[in-house]
Amino acid sequence: MRVLIAYDSLSGNTRDLARMVRECCEARGHAVTWIETGIQSLADACPDPRHDLYLLGTWTDNAGRTPAAMKRFIAELVEAVGKPGRVAVFGTGETQWGEEYYCGALRRIAGFFGSTHPPLEIEQMPHGARDALKVRHWADQVLATPGSAAAAMPTSPQPMPRTRSMQTLHASTPDDVRAAIAAHPRLLVDYYKDDCPACRMLDLSLRQFAAGPAAAGLALLKVKLETVGEDVFRDLGLRQTPTLALHVDGREAVRLPGFRTPAQIAQAVEAHACDIPA
Ligand SMILES: Cc1cc2nc3c(=O)[nH]c(=O)nc-3n(C[C@H](O)[C@H](O)[C@H](O)COP(=O)(O)O)c2cc1C
Repeated sequence: MRVLIAYDSLSGNTRDLARMVRECCEARGHAVTWIETGIQSLADACPDPRHDLYLLGTWTDNAGRTPAAMKRFIAELVEAVGKPGRVAVFGTGETQWGEEYYCGALRRIAGFFGSTHPPLEIEQMPHGARDALKVRHWADQVLATPGSAAAAMPTSPQPMPRTRSMQTLHASTPDDVRAAIAAHPRLLVDYYKDDCPACRMLDLSLRQFAAGPAAAGLALLKVKLETVGEDVFRDLGLRQTPTLALHVDGREAVRLPGFRTPAQIAQAVEAHACDIPA
């Protein structure tokens, strides 16, 4: 397979991670095109920009933003080949910039391409055997042929799901929202809208969360702004999409604006709704 690895790195952390990803690709016999976006363009690096898989690595700039050189590279890539079908994103960031912004560029890029792979996020730089395993595991997933058993595996070890999986409902009207809140004693409500990369990433998080034990006995209601109308969002005082709300016994127990990881969703559920038997 022809794999393109393009990365941007200011101080070397993402370069180290990109090298580890490259080793994984080459160890499995794939041909790698290697691009450092700060110093090379796509046109400089390869005469034929078409690849089977595109792996984009980046650090995160101010308040969760994509660095300028990576943005330039993405524009060049899309100009050359359109939005490729197989894209996966990796990179480094620091939680000290705030959970909301941690590795924000990765989520933006993955959302832009509609990547089906959760981004590989590393705090600051890859350290030790644990991160090496995390990188190998992620690389194995993204390199697997679509439809193969390896491709179907989750990107990180998941607890076994309980038999009662999370039921997903879709609201068509404001009344549907009220009815679902009244009917389900433990209900997550995902307020989202079209063309919203963070909303797509939250949707991926919810799918991963749904496979874990904290999701047992919960229902999920998807509420789309374009479907139920802006008034519903305004009346609820929602200031951002996505926003996830957890309702317990018909009462909103907690509201989580913005993207959340599966672990953060599980934490909120455990903190606010674990006294109700699943
Ligand atoms: C100006 C600046 C802004 C940053 N903003 C964020 C941020 O919003 N979110 C984040 O996760 N990391 C942020 N970081 C941390 C870097 O993304 C992190 O240190 C990364 O590992 C650097 O990678 P590199 O060594 O490949 O350049 C910021 C760093 C700098 C210098």
